[in-house]
Amino acid sequence: MQITETRFKWQDTFDSFSSPLFSANISSAHFDPAPISSFPICFTPVQIMEAKIAPSMLSSDFANLASEAQRMLTFGADWLHMDIMDGCVQAHFVPNLTIGAPVIESLRKHTKAYLDCHLMVTNPLDYVDQLGKAGASGFTFHVEVTKDNWQELVKRIKSKGMRPGVALKPGTPVEDVYPLLEGVDPVEMVLVMTVEPGFGGQKFMPDMMNKVRTLREKYPKLDIEVDGGLGPSTIDVAAAAGANCIVAGSSVFGAPEPAQVISLLRTSVNKARTIC
Ligand code: DX5
Ligand code: ZN
Repeated sequence: MQITETRFKWQDTFDSFSSPLFSANISSAHFDPAPISSFPICFTPVQIMEAKIAPSMLSSDFANLASEAQRMLTFGADWLHMDIMDGCVQAHFVPNLTIGAPVIESLRKHTKAYLDCHLMVTNPLDYVDQLGKAGASGFTFHVEVTKDNWQELVKRIKSKGMRPGVALKPGTPVEDVYPLLEGVDPVEMVLVMTVEPGFGGQKFMPDMMNKVRTLREKYPKLDIEVDGGLGPSTIDVAAAAGANCIVAGSSVFGAPEPAQVISLLRTSVNKARTIC
């Protein structure tokens, strides 16, 4: 199948501002409007945030994980979102058990893609070494279980060559992640849960967009990821609020044409980020 997606190239736009050709054009008395009117130049771009579309592999066919991953990348995915849950019912973090480091290690043998690991576990520190060794790229832990040891955790994640992120459940106030975004070793992404963690296919919670908006205003260059219930009918509100990393499970895997859904998610984020 042919993919007809067109990606917006920020760099091209900014390069064109500084190129000699562009300067020559604006200072020329014989300014030819034709090429300009056919090219959507944004003179005051709000900010530069790349869209990252991350299909959640929780909705994939686990028996064919490598080919499912490859399928998503061919369809235009930037990242692969890996939901790691410990099923630790006693501590009531999430009542579901999914994948662990051995699966990440196996998948890593089949792909060089960015593996965006979302840890819904009670003791994330216990998983850092094994996930680093397995080849995880991003390590996003929950703030609710790391209030006391996040500094040590972030250091350890970085030392293992992974990118640290923090996630928050719907009931957790956004202010709880502020300390993790300041100081010498800040996290590099915030994941705002837009459903209760545990399962794919749940209904998007629009109220969570206040958190996204607040974060985007305070941290204009931060990677803000939204996770849960994202798809064609909910992406615009999330993109407008300021999310640039989009996790989507059932809406992508359940679509007859997943490439179209991935493209639509990307277009919505890019549109929201290029308002002049
Ligand atoms: C839920 C997981 C999500 C989930 C998203 O706990 O963190 O990543 O797979 O699935 P959808 O997009 O179907 O809500
Ligand atoms: Zn997730």
